[in-house]
Amino acid sequence: MTPKTFKIKSFGCQMNVYDGDRIGEMLAERGLSAVGDRDDADLVVLNTCHIREKAAEKAYSDVGRLRREDGTRPMVALAGCVAQAEGAEAKRRSEMIDIVVGPQAYHRLPEMVAEAARGARPVDTDMPAISKFDALPRRRRATPSAFLTVQEGCDKFCTYCVVPYTRGAEISRPWDHIVAEARALVDGGAREIVLLGQNVNAWEHGGRTLADLIRFLAGIEGLERLRYTTSHPVNMGDDLIAAHGDVAELMPYLHLPVQSGSDRILRAMNRSHSTDSYLRTIEKVRAARPDIAISGDFIVGFPGETEADFEATLQIVDAVRYASAYSFKYSARPGTPAATMEDQIPREVMEDRLQRLQSRIAGHQLAFNRSTAGLDTRLLIERPGRRAGQMIGRSPWLQSVHVQTDAAPGTMLDVTLTAAGPNSMTGALLRQDAA
Ligand code: SAH
Ligand code: SF4
Ligand code: F3S
Repeated sequence: MTPKTFKIKSFGCQMNVYDGDRIGEMLAERGLSAVGDRDDADLVVLNTCHIREKAAEKAYSDVGRLRREDGTRPMVALAGCVAQAEGAEAKRRSEMIDIVVGPQAYHRLPEMVAEAARGARPVDTDMPAISKFDALPRRRRATPSAFLTVQEGCDKFCTYCVVPYTRGAEISRPWDHIVAEARALVDGGAREIVLLGQNVNAWEHGGRTLADLIRFLAGIEGLERLRYTTSHPVNMGDDLIAAHGDVAELMPYLHLPVQSGSDRILRAMNRSHSTDSYLRTIEKVRAARPDIAISGDFIVGFPGETEADFEATLQIVDAVRYASAYSFKYSARPGTPAATMEDQIPREVMEDRLQRLQSRIAGHQLAFNRSTAGLDTRLLIERPGRRAGQMIGRSPWLQSVHVQTDAAPGTMLDVTLTAAGPNSMTGALLRQDAA
């Protein structure tokens, strides 16, 4: 049966959210309607993440849960990084999977749905030379803060990571395409654009860099804010750092993962930067934009990590004073070099280190939030809060700020930050501009 309704669930990183939106737009253009509840969907697309074992296993348990009480089930498309990593094997693991489509092939999904409706079980994990982006429909509607993929894939091959295998080689989308999509997003209601890439600061096209792109996009009428993520320390060029100092639309926030504070571990991870070069980069960024909020990613329990290596990680957390950071227990991924390294770390040790790291990070996060209390600043209102009459907006430093207002999503609002919590701020209205 040809599906008439669909539901997409995206897991993992922001790029999957972007891809999920694009898949939705494409299906809608072919006449399918989006439904809120997967029980009402003729087609369910699970847009999966392969980064850690837990995330990958979740994909299969989610597939299993799609069977309904009356024994029926929707057509199931496995998309995203698990689909890329598992390919046809996914169909053997679950007979409920009708379609397997990788992150570089999803522009073919409508065709594959038609094939599946005829009883086939198509698999496409090709990484074609022609870009999927060319085959996607024009953007029409956008959230106040909208993602825009400008760069995809990774050539860095950190020894623990599956992304170079699931997303393929680094590619940069052409300048004109990005500018056209950015304009369409702003026309569709976006006030902020978040430029996405696995190594977004490696973006380059025709000799132009991410800094050039940011400077140009900042001039788009109606666009209030720009952000970009995720950056790699080795691609943090001086021109990009300078842009933080003189592009008003570029928000004072930088996600710059370091992974470990031990040079020995960084070498084993094949990170191609040292703690020293990382700290020097942070210093330069802070010189350009003193109030910048720095965020990062950490892995604890990489093979061979000693207590001394771990303490070095705590030290770099203290040295940088992160405004926020994500930390993960190392997860051995099939096919990656680290998975077969000696001296894998026991689970209990990883759990203990993760807890100590997270409490250290939480301390710095609260300190950062407190340092912003009392400031007058500007919010982009994004969504209703839990309490009546409350909305949640984002500060320039990406904090969630609760504020009593009837301002609609997409409104820029001047507030005073009145109170700091561990994970959010409270704000009070100063003055409201027309949306
Ligand atoms: N391209 C980005 C992000 C990659 S994935 C970068 O290089 O920083 C996001 C985060 O997941 C990584 O920064 C890393 O901290 C974590 N991660 C990746 N592979 C992992 C693994 N095998 N086990 C645990 N965490 C992992
Ligand atoms: Fe993975 Fe390293 Fe590439 Fe980031 S830079 S996506 S951690 S291989
Ligand atoms: Fe996950 Fe793929 Fe993103 S593995 S983190 S969804 S690039």
